[in-house]
Amino acid sequence: MIHEKVAAIIDKYEGDHESLIMMLQDMQDSFRYLPEEALRYLGERLDIPMTQLYAVATFYKAFSLTPQGDHTIHVCCGTACHVKGADRIVDRLERELHVKEGGTTLDKRYTLKTVRCVGACSLAPIVLIDEQAHGRLTQDKAAKLVRPKKTA
Ligand code: FES
Repeated sequence: MIHEKVAAIIDKYEGDHESLIMMLQDMQDSFRYLPEEALRYLGERLDIPMTQLYAVATFYKAFSLTPQGDHTIHVCCGTACHVKGADRIVDRLERELHVKEGGTTLDKRYTLKTVRCVGACSLAPIVLIDEQAHGRLTQDKAAKLVRPKKTA
């Protein structure tokens, strides 16, 4: 399965080394991270050493070598958000999700990350879940955002 997907991506770019970044981007989109097996297969097919692939994969922030959740939570830890308690929101989300910053929940639903100022300081403290911004958060409100919705 992994090999088939990577083979299709290689074919799409006709195995052109100049398109390596695009191939990695497609792999990232397809698997939501860059599995070692996928990188190994890509390297074998294109005759690119793993060290080179890892160097590229770790250089660009868009790539991840660990599995990512369905949704990414970015807690802003810029100055304004920090002053308004961003650290406590990170702590609360870590406890709520049972995951450390940078990690992914066991059910693969969320990946928790921190970022520098996202440019909406008047809404501090702010959390982004995927592209959706949630401003003026309290710890409790942040925790509620990630709890499974109760169905009636
Ligand atoms: S510091 Fe968080 S939005 Fe600016």
